Amino acid sequence: MCGIVGGITTKNITPLLMDGLKRLEYRGYDSSGLVILSQDNKLLRERAAGKVKNLENKLKLVKSKLEGNVGLAHTRWATHGKPSVKNAHPHISKKSISLVHNGIIENYIELKDLQMKQGYEFTSETDTEVIVHAIDHALKSSDSLLKATQKVIKTLDGSYGIGVLSSKYPDQIIATRKGSPLVIGIGDNGNYVASDQMALLSLTDKFIFLEEGDIAEIKLDKITIYDLNDNLVERPIKTSKLKIAQIDLEGNDHFMQKEIFEQPQAIRDTLESRITKNSVVIPAFGYDAEKIFQKIRQVQIVACGTSYHAGLVAKYWLEDIAKVPCNVEVASEYRYRNPIFLNGTLFVTLSQSGETADTVEALKTAKKINSSIISLCISNSAESSLTRLSDLNFLTHAGPEIGVASTKAFTTQLVALSLLVCSIGKLKNTINIKQEKKIVDGLRRLPGLINNALLQEPQIKKLAARFKDKNSALFLGRGTMYAIAMEGALKLKEISYIHAEAYPAGELKHGPIALIDKNMPVIAIAPNDELLGKLKSNLQEVKSRGSQMIVFEDEDSKVQEMEAMEVIQITSNLGRISAPIIFTIPLQLLSYHVALIKGTDVDKPRNLAKSVTVE
Ligand code: F6R
Repeated sequence: MCGIVGGITTKNITPLLMDGLKRLEYRGYDSSGLVILSQDNKLLRERAAGKVKNLENKLKLVKSKLEGNVGLAHTRWATHGKPSVKNAHPHISKKSISLVHNGIIENYIELKDLQMKQGYEFTSETDTEVIVHAIDHALKSSDSLLKATQKVIKTLDGSYGIGVLSSKYPDQIIATRKGSPLVIGIGDNGNYVASDQMALLSLTDKFIFLEEGDIAEIKLDKITIYDLNDNLVERPIKTSKLKIAQIDLEGNDHFMQKEIFEQPQAIRDTLESRITKNSVVIPAFGYDAEKIFQKIRQVQIVACGTSYHAGLVAKYWLEDIAKVPCNVEVASEYRYRNPIFLNGTLFVTLSQSGETADTVEALKTAKKINSSIISLCISNSAESSLTRLSDLNFLTHAGPEIGVASTKAFTTQLVALSLLVCSIGKLKNTINIKQEKKIVDGLRRLPGLINNALLQEPQIKKLAARFKDKNSALFLGRGTMYAIAMEGALKLKEISYIHAEAYPAGELKHGPIALIDKNMPVIAIAPNDELLGKLKSNLQEVKSRGSQMIVFEDEDSKVQEMEAMEVIQITSNLGRISAPIIFTIPLQLLSYHVALIKGTDVDKPRNLAKSVTVE
């Protein structure tokens, strides 16, 4: 979603803001802008539609004018109002207050009606503009920018991460959040604010993570924070372990490519100190995990997109291995129904970012229904709304994922879920010591197996050429491979814009087989498991309808090549935990290479954003 970066420093802030914007671009990028307070206290603003590069080009033309020590910048992902210069942030009221906003203001129409009566002129179609005018109005009866902003946020319905600056208060920036993340960075030459610590990593590794409802007054030498009840509060300063190199391309063409090839290491890091020679380390899920897992009677998993697919795989594992019933649901549906769950339900959220608005709200919904529910969050972000809201946390240690299409976050989520399944199974005696050791050994072999699967890239690259003129593709799998097929279809559609669907192979004859002809490539995942025979029959059905097929198999699957069918051996014969993780790799590579052929923006596909912090 949108990104915010701002600060107050002893240096010229413009280059720092531009650097931050580039690091935030992966979050949302249909337009961008910045505002600087000049030495003579004037607000200087520049905005551009499209990429941050367009803003940079505009700034080159006006370089001498945009200098100052205080400023705010924003990358926008349009919600209200189309992507355009006039809708880009920062917004300004009465030439004296400027504001950037992430989130959605739901009552903006009624606020706008009121403000129009008060004489405010609107220059954009955004919901955001009402906030800046409201602060201007509130300042008339407040003796500080902080107090005016405190007044205004109490009138807002919806979600926000906001940065405000005013020419009347040139020594400060106000930052506040509700439902949208904000972090304060403490540097040697200044203090900063951003929606994501990555924007500030070149300036500092010291961060304060604002909590829900917090509002901060950020000055050069002082940061003051109040909670949602206006009480003065202290929030801890944390040192980030993220390194700037982790968010650079390091010689790769794309972040997605880099992240696909980082998976062996990401999995090693995720496993580190979570397994011993023969067993899983259950306290890796939290101090109380052992006691909690023993009492579990059911697992409810809630997530979105790729993370949801990881949940679907886990359902098969949990019921098969740990013998615990499991439901999996997309968060945007879960949050708006009246779900029922048994006492003893473990509520698991899966989220790379830990900030996905629907997943956060789904967890809140569950807690409202039953306040004693035990929640576990599996996430790749140490400081996030979900980790703060959850009783137990497991960090995936995949490292920053910048490419919008999730890759290493998915496979490390699967690793985390396999540890969860093994932990619950062990505590419920559904697996014995020998079986536990077998799972742990299998997990330890994963990085090597992924490296082997990655070696198939040249072959997969050749196959990608077949998709150049295709408009649709069908992915087939059975069991956990159905979830992996869904993930493969999502990857293909989001970065190559080819319509793709996944079906459980057995469901084909109940409808989708009608679609199959030579223009509909079919990709099947065929490990040698107990469903292989059935899958092979399904492949025959497809074959006789003239489809071009690609089959990813393991060395024992022995799918017979036929005309118009390419069979690629990805791996050795695998266990039920390793197989879905390994068979994800060729699908990631396929979508990456199809996208390259189609010439799309691989890391920043159109209309998408990395961290979906609005519903
Ligand atoms: C697809 C993708 C999205 C995310 C989804 C949830 O490649 O990345 O579908 O998986 O938006 O995001 P998180 O995991 O951050 O909650």
